[in-house]
Amino acid sequence: MCGIIGCNGVSAAVPVLTLGLERMEYRGYDSSGIAVIADGKTEITKKKGRVSELINALRFKPQATAAIGIGHTRWATHGEPSDENAHPHQSGKFTLVHNGIIENHTELKEQYLKLTKMKSDTDTEVAVHLLNRFYSDGCLKALAHTARLLEGSFALAVICEEEPEKLFCVRQSSPLVVGLGEGTYAASDTAAISEKIHTLYRMDDGEIAVLEKDKIEFYDFELNKIRKAPEKFEKSSYASDKGNFEHFMLKEIYEQPEAIRRTVDAYLNENGFNLGLKPQKPERIFIVACGSAYHAGLVGRRIFESLAKIPVSVETASEFRYSEPLVSEKTPVIIISQSGETADSLAALREAKKRGAKTLSIINVKESTIATESDFVLLTRAGPEIAVATTKAYGAQLSALYLLGIYFAESFGTADKKELEKMKKALTDLHKSVSAALNCEEQIKEIAHRLRHIDRAYFIGRGAGFAAASEGSLKLKEISYIHCEAYAAGEMKHGTISLIEKDTTVIAMNTQTALAHKLQSNIDEVRSRGARVIAVTSADSKISADETITVPEVHPLFAVSTQIVPVQLLSYHIARLRGCDIDKPRNLAKSVTVE
Ligand code: AGP
Repeated sequence: MCGIIGCNGVSAAVPVLTLGLERMEYRGYDSSGIAVIADGKTEITKKKGRVSELINALRFKPQATAAIGIGHTRWATHGEPSDENAHPHQSGKFTLVHNGIIENHTELKEQYLKLTKMKSDTDTEVAVHLLNRFYSDGCLKALAHTARLLEGSFALAVICEEEPEKLFCVRQSSPLVVGLGEGTYAASDTAAISEKIHTLYRMDDGEIAVLEKDKIEFYDFELNKIRKAPEKFEKSSYASDKGNFEHFMLKEIYEQPEAIRRTVDAYLNENGFNLGLKPQKPERIFIVACGSAYHAGLVGRRIFESLAKIPVSVETASEFRYSEPLVSEKTPVIIISQSGETADSLAALREAKKRGAKTLSIINVKESTIATESDFVLLTRAGPEIAVATTKAYGAQLSALYLLGIYFAESFGTADKKELEKMKKALTDLHKSVSAALNCEEQIKEIAHRLRHIDRAYFIGRGAGFAAASEGSLKLKEISYIHCEAYAAGEMKHGTISLIEKDTTVIAMNTQTALAHKLQSNIDEVRSRGARVIAVTSADSKISADETITVPEVHPLFAVSTQIVPVQLLSYHIARLRGCDIDKPRNLAKSVTVE
């Protein structure tokens, strides 16, 4: 997952490109670069490291004023992060940036570029050499010829000294939008150009766009002209500041209650639901997602099975897509994705549709690919989430699943009406309890100080508490680089308890009040072997541990939403004390648009 940007017909391309890259750095940040054409010559600047390194390098390099250029921020797939492997890549008069994976790059090199000396270890460089090789009768033909040969996923932006007044874009399985404003623009997502455009075109797979300074034309890979519907785009300011917070992640943890309130209020009010769904009771529901979204799906399963009495399978998208899933028109598939661009989740959506399933996606980015390809979209209202480690969007995903579970139960008559009314009220008020859960931060800071040097931790829970433990484990490991493992509490004694020794850190999540006594036994089992246990519990459920963090009591089905807050805060503060790069952890990116 990388970020690409292009512009044409602007007064100064360099600042447009670098600002866009800063806004897409969450997509990948191990190296970055730009290329512009000024006075007929291409100037490339690219650097290993953050976009700030590139900007510094540009400061010391006289920049001709250019009207056209391309830029790229990278999350390495082929070739380590380095200046040479950074994009853009050049061959002859062509310069190119790429997001995705060219899966047949080795075969293409063998077949067409045997005598070509590669300057990098990337798959991308093959594409730009092919352009140069096939160039004979205009850039567009060379581009179409190349695009037809490439396999895999590729969003490309290309400039060429032979036609310096044109910016060329190609889209195949990696997101790319183009737009009109003062000049023309291309980007992996609209956030990078949201203040520049008034008209947006979302490119589809198999399309080429030719951006001149004041118009955009579209073709397929056979060079048939395509007419695309423009969309009026409300220029929007980019929510890019951290306000008074040191990191986006902490800001977004504190925005979580509002994200939940906005999501619930969008679909439930005093008159009931306004989901626009007319569900038939299915045989089974599949929930498919990745990472934290998958962990939200684990909670969703508990909600749907207990309220709507529907069997639910929850699968990671990377497994689902290759598992010959037993999906049909009788088994709707719910895709959960914050970005709506996760390659595995998008592929799972397409696989489900191919098998005749109706698809519903729970998405936080309205104009994302998964949203546009789903039969129904339940849009979470978390707002732009910048930190790579998701918090408020995860909280909003849980709320969306609660809404659906109650709605299904009401539609299918599978739960007591009075109980459902109570749940609706509890859901409407949930944001207040999540907000109150933030009050534990001072206690969390002390615990974080004690745990800042640990090298591993175990998260345990029962029922939905295991789903919460899974999310807690991911949060801590992905931003602090501490090895963490989530385990169903009752399973510990079947092997993993052998790893428990003096002062091993165990975090127990007591979301299931009805199972508190069982969890207590598991806590006692690990404590008797030397573990130091920190229990997260709600006010109505006493748990004895070395340390207890208590959050407000909520409806049992919603307990994950409040209990995840102290764990999010704990992960943040431990990572902060360890000096980790909290908003952009090593090796990660916000949207995994490659498989
Ligand atoms: C969560 O903190 C991670 N950043 C990651 O697991 C993320 O949830 C996963 O990549 C799915 O992303 P999506 O919701 O945008 O599809």
